[in-house]
Amino acid sequence: MLSKSIQEALNKQVQMEAESSQAYLAMASWTEIQPGLEGVSNFFYQQSDEERQHMLKLVRFINERGGYAMVPALEQPMVTFPSIKKLFEEYLNHELKVSNSINDLVHLSLSEKDYATHNFLQWYVNEQIEEERVARTLNDKLELIGDDRSGLYLFDRDIMNYRGKE
Ligand code: FEO
Repeated sequence: MLSKSIQEALNKQVQMEAESSQAYLAMASWTEIQPGLEGVSNFFYQQSDEERQHMLKLVRFINERGGYAMVPALEQPMVTFPSIKKLFEEYLNHELKVSNSINDLVHLSLSEKDYATHNFLQWYVNEQIEEERVARTLNDKLELIGDDRSGLYLFDRDIMNYRGKE
């Protein structure tokens, strides 16, 4: 059975994952209407789907453990971007925020001796290591590319190779 505070914190994480899904959907949509960024757009459509899966996993866990997962209201995410570089910075910052939030949850579960929740959260801890790695790699690549159009062409073509999940 979940304590009230853990239930609340998990529900907040539901909201965060849902907002991640929305944020990446907005990135997918914006890059889809820019010329030559089909690869980046596909990448973010896929990221958006994954975040929805992260959210669903939490919803199912909360309910399974005797809590109630409340579907949250969501704020509109950033829908236009000054540059592709800024978009990817935003992506990394977002993932860092998610990691912090997961870490706080892990801390809370330990302090309340809720080992079932602690165990459940390990999947998210590992997932965040991978997500941060991907986001950092992509930002590093863009830094190297600078204003080189042919570099951006290759970046767009190869972006799925950096996911490391297929
Ligand atoms: Fe589910 Fe990328 O945080």
